[in-house]
This record gives sequence, structure tokens and C-alpha cells, in this order.
Amino acid sequence: MKVLVTGGAGFIGSDFVRLAARKGWKVTVVDKLTYAGDMERLKPIQDRLDFYNVDILDKEELRKIFEKQKPEAVLHFAAETNIDRSVIEPSVFMETNIIGTIYLLELAKELGVEKFINITSYEEYGDIKEGERDEDCPLNPRSPYAVSKASADMLGQVYWRALKLPVITVRLCSIYGPWQNPERLIPMTILKALRNEMIPIHGTGDIIREWLYLCDCIRAVFALLEKGKPGEVYNVGSGERFKVIDIVKQILKILDKPENLIKFVSDRPGHEKRFAISSEKIKSTTGWSPTTKFESGLKSTIEWNLNNRTWLFKKLFYYEDLWSRLYKED
Ligand SMILES: NC(=O)c1ccc[n+]([C@@H]2O[C@H](COP(=O)([O-])OP(=O)(O)OC[C@H]3O[C@@H](n4cnc5c(N)ncnc54)[C@H](O)[C@@H]3O)[C@@H](O)[C@H]2O)c1
Repeated sequence: MKVLVTGGAGFIGSDFVRLAARKGWKVTVVDKLTYAGDMERLKPIQDRLDFYNVDILDKEELRKIFEKQKPEAVLHFAAETNIDRSVIEPSVFMETNIIGTIYLLELAKELGVEKFINITSYEEYGDIKEGERDEDCPLNPRSPYAVSKASADMLGQVYWRALKLPVITVRLCSIYGPWQNPERLIPMTILKALRNEMIPIHGTGDIIREWLYLCDCIRAVFALLEKGKPGEVYNVGSGERFKVIDIVKQILKILDKPENLIKFVSDRPGHEKRFAISSEKIKSTTGWSPTTKFESGLKSTIEWNLNNRTWLFKKLFYYEDLWSRLYKED
């Protein structure tokens, strides 16, 4: 199998790349290496892939890569992904996440790619008081990030309907696990707790998210690459939903740190309360289901971060700057 993976040096994309390379697939990675990308994630399989440090907005470079590598499938993970940052710097999200996706769809169509896996997000549905969203629910994106992902999602679907490019749309819930940048809740809490620093929580921390462990997420992507139907949309979630504050308290307990490290900061305007999705469709289509329960995935993630502190602490300067812009104490 010849695959082209965008965002393959990122948190989720790199896990796909590591596994695909170990399967002996011919893997091409396109990644701009923004602050979120990191070649260290690909170190063990670096000599088994073709890596291009290229922006997906550089269509001419992309064309050369497509022509040379002739991928059978494209797995499109590359994106600007920090939701809070999207509120203060939205334009870069629209460029990378929407225009970048259009370029990839255009080239995939032009050069006859057989499958295009478009990785999107459950954020696109907006929040839901109770119950869960299935794939037929209308989208109601509420942050610039979610708007950009919903646009990319719908563009992918149009490429199937109008042009018969076999696009499979994958809407992921919140993913956690090893190698996640400490701009996200779980690694940020671990990092700050290890440094005995304030852990900022928006509002009261009662927002609810659904959490899936990284290796279960990647198993789902492989399952959909093999058995997903072109033109279809699949939610990928765990059904395990928790309040942010409870997760932070659980991490502090495991690390034996006091709860008074938690500092409540002003809520993000329009912060959505609860996200929840149904994953019945992927289960019935592919037989996939998650295997790691949150409690055990969280313990493994903490352990991984404790064993990889150098990596966790590496980008501290960037994150300190980001945090100071995002989390203002009341
Ligand atoms: N992490 C989650 O919980 C989650 C949940 C739902 C959906 N998703 C989606 O999954 C995908 C992967 O997320 P992630 O958490 O691994 O993100 P990440 O931020 O860790 O990685 C994104 C990668 O994309 C690369 N990139 C960014 N802009 C680029 C550009 N213009 N050209 C080329 N490369 C570029 C970065 O360098 C980085 O390697 C994204 O599409 C994201 O929207 C993630």
C-alpha cells in the first residue's frame, strides 16, 4: 500500500505513520513542522519513509510530491488544531484547514487517488445537552476551528458527490495518549503538575468531552481505510464522557499533587458545554470498537509522560507564551 500522510509529524498522524511503516507500507509524509509537528515522533521509523517538509498550502510542491510518489491513498491529518488559539488567530485556521484541504482534494482527484481519508472533528456538531449526535445530525460549528473543520468536512463530501473522489470522512472525538503536545488538557495538566505550577481551567471546568485513547483511534482509521464506504461519514468515539475538572483531579491524584494547583480562569465566550457522539456506524461497518478504558489509558499516558519528561518539557517556551495569551487569571 502506498500512502501519503499529511500532518504525519503531529500527535495523531505520527501514530498512523509509525504503524503503517511497521506494516511495510510505502509511506510519504507531508508536514510543515509547525510548533505542533515534531520529527522525534517519527525517529524509530525515519529511514522507512519519504518525508517532505512542505506546507499543504504550497500546491505546486504538493503536485510534485503526488506525481513522484503516486499514492493510492491520502490520509489527511494536517491542520491547525488549537481551538482556543483559533479564537484569537482565526485566519491561519481558515487557510490551512480549508484551502489546504481543497488543494489536496484537487490533486487527489487529478492524479487518481483511490481513497481519501479526511480527518475531521466532533466539534463540528456543536454541543448537545443530552443524548449523542450521529452522522446525520446537522453541523453547528461554534469556534473558528470547528468552522474550518466543518468546511473541510463538507468539501470532502462534495468531492465524492460531484466528482466521485472516494472520500471517507472521519469525525474524531477528543483523543489523548503518548506524544500529545502539552497545549492539550491532559499533557498540559501533567506538565504543570510536575512543575508545581497553576493549572488553568476555563470557567468551572464542568464542560464534558468524550475521550478516546490514541491507539484505538488509529485502529479505527486503519479499519475505515480498509472497510469504510466512499462518500460516507463515520464518527469515532469511545462513549466515555467526563468533565474537565474531574480529569484534572484524577491526574493530580495519580501524581500525588494537591488540588489547590487548580486555578479557575475566565471562561471562553461561547464555550460549549457537552459533546457526545454515537459510534455505532463504524462499529457495524468495520467491527471496530475501542479496547482501552479511560482509566487505564490515562494511567498509561501519565506513565509515558513521566518516562519522556525531556520531550514534554522541550517546547515549554512556546507554550508559556501561548498560555499567557490564552489563560488570563480573574
Ligand atoms: N487531537 C484531537 O483530540 C483531535 C480531535 C478531533 C479531530 N482531530 C483532528 O485530527 C487531526 C490531527 O490532529 P492532531 O491532534 O494530531 O494535531 P497536531 O496539532 O498534533 O498535528 C498537526 C500536524 O499538522 C502539521 N501542519 C499544520 N499546518 C500544516 C500545513 N499548513 N501544512 C502541512 N502540515 C501542517 C503540523 O506540523 C503537525 O505536525 C487534525 O485534523 C485535527 O483537526 C484531532
